[in-house]
Amino acid sequence: MAFDRAFLDELNARCDILDVVGRYVQLKKSGGRYFGLCPFHNEKTGSFCVTPERQMFHCFGCGVGGGVLTFIMHAEGLSFPDAVQFMAAQVGMQVPETQADPREAQRRKRLLGLSTEAARFFHRQLWLPENATVAKYFLNRGLSRKTMNNFGLGYAPDSFSSLLNAMAEKGYSKEELLDAGLASRSERGHVYDRFRHRVMFPIIDVRGQVIAFGGRVMDDSKPKYLNSPETSIFHKSRNLFALNLARKTKSDYFILAEGYMDVIALHQAGFDSAVASLGTALTDEQVRLISRHTGKIVISYDADGAGQDAAQRAIDLLKKTDLQVKVLRIPGAKDPDEFIKEKGADAYRKLIERSESDNAYRLESIAAKYDLDEDEERVRFLHEAAGTLAKIDNAVEREVYAGRAAKMAKVTVEAMEIEVKRALSVRRKKQKSDEKRELRAVVSAAQPRDRTLQYQNVRSARAEEGIIRLIFADDSLIDEVAARITPQEFTAQVLQKIFAHALTLHRQGHRVTIASFEGYLEENEMRHLSAVVGGDRVNTANWQQALGDYIATIESCRMKSGTDDSGEDPLLRMSRIHREKDRLGGI
Ligand code: CTP
Ligand code: MN
Repeated sequence: MAFDRAFLDELNARCDILDVVGRYVQLKKSGGRYFGLCPFHNEKTGSFCVTPERQMFHCFGCGVGGGVLTFIMHAEGLSFPDAVQFMAAQVGMQVPETQADPREAQRRKRLLGLSTEAARFFHRQLWLPENATVAKYFLNRGLSRKTMNNFGLGYAPDSFSSLLNAMAEKGYSKEELLDAGLASRSERGHVYDRFRHRVMFPIIDVRGQVIAFGGRVMDDSKPKYLNSPETSIFHKSRNLFALNLARKTKSDYFILAEGYMDVIALHQAGFDSAVASLGTALTDEQVRLISRHTGKIVISYDADGAGQDAAQRAIDLLKKTDLQVKVLRIPGAKDPDEFIKEKGADAYRKLIERSESDNAYRLESIAAKYDLDEDEERVRFLHEAAGTLAKIDNAVEREVYAGRAAKMAKVTVEAMEIEVKRALSVRRKKQKSDEKRELRAVVSAAQPRDRTLQYQNVRSARAEEGIIRLIFADDSLIDEVAARITPQEFTAQVLQKIFAHALTLHRQGHRVTIASFEGYLEENEMRHLSAVVGGDRVNTANWQQALGDYIATIESCRMKSGTDDSGEDPLLRMSRIHREKDRLGGI
């Protein structure tokens, strides 16, 4: 997985962290740094910090941190090589093939080629005269030939070997079909086609590559759908059905549906921004994917109980982002596909226009559980509604919906407001104690957050951290540092690894930056490095004295004697003294 350093440097140079992070997080400038709400954990106060000068980010709340590629790994749910590919594609750079583990890259390429060939094979079957009943299945469900072609729909024949044989002719092995999730192996070791006698829905990623399939039976047999398993090219939690099409839409909202057929019917009816999660509950990664492409989402799930429960969960996830969330209700127990077939596109468009905000939707859902003509039930409704209303951060919005809830329960607005206030104060108290706990955790972080990185000798490790901070603040000091201490003298393994890599980089003529550690450090190690160097800017004016102090501390720890008088980090102490001098007008 070793990429060429010069290539990575060039890539990093073209992807300014402020630009990239700015696409995901709203940032506010403060000094030389930028703060915002962390996209990786739920918070109300901005502890997520970007330092453009170092091209790094760090969250003081949850501890995540690193350079721009680490950010993309987290935000897009990608591995390091995939994050490199992703960013390279965005800035129009070609990833040197030979560098990125050539065998793995080659293998992936083969699997992608195989999936495309398989999709072509399935699609061709659809139009063969002997499979006329299959095409008829889709036509009966209201799909046009054009739609079938647009979505590359297909048919997997009723045979255990037709795909295997067709792909063998193209030069693909059984092993490769197994790896691509297109074949299965019996207990006796026999390899056979996974998809048989099913209509096929290819799943295509944002780059337009076929990565997986969903296969549906044409009758009532079970399972109704069979999907590709997770493979090295398909991670279902990171993809959405039809995102490749929806991303090109002109409308300012996306429609989130449940099923393949819903999405296809919606597109055919002109709603070209419809997507679906892939047969699972919506994931965080899918939500981030959506919010990258649109600012507004209309949830259009099935009208049955399961669909409505799923909608509630989807709202919770979607609300973590800046997305404006609306929920569409289909009158009568139907899904979007059936509704459009019966009532047409215009009727559905009206439903979109009438779709409610997530808050209104929630109130309606709560109200549906109670008989609001009964006094006792009304009290229970009020209580539950107040709990939901207390979660609305915007005071005006809260008031509007409190008014609405009052009307629904036929109580005075005042009564409703008292109830909401009570729920609000409970919630605020809890939030405060949560944040206090979080802050305490940060302040007392003498040890790395990750227990597996725990320091054996905290005092020595603190000094070692200081040396790391020093060389990250000014990497021209490395030679001087290296002349006085070796990595082997570091007691903390993670810091030793970092220091050793810094020396290697430096000797090879590279800069020591956060970016040059990406892909080298494990994720938890990168978090730790970002915590070590991510704090206040250090003033290196008195680096010699600071370095001397660090080394003295490390030595004294090694002798298992001696105590540090103040316990204060020497480099930070220098910086503090400098700041105080500045304040006094420089003495
Ligand atoms: N799904 C699945 N496996 C199943 C059932 C459902 O993966 N055994 C996924 C599919 O992505 C499906 C979605 O969940 O599209 C919604 O399921 P459902 O509403 O049952 O199917 P529809 O898409 O409405 O399909 P159809 O209209 O063809 O019955
Ligand atoms: Mn359906």
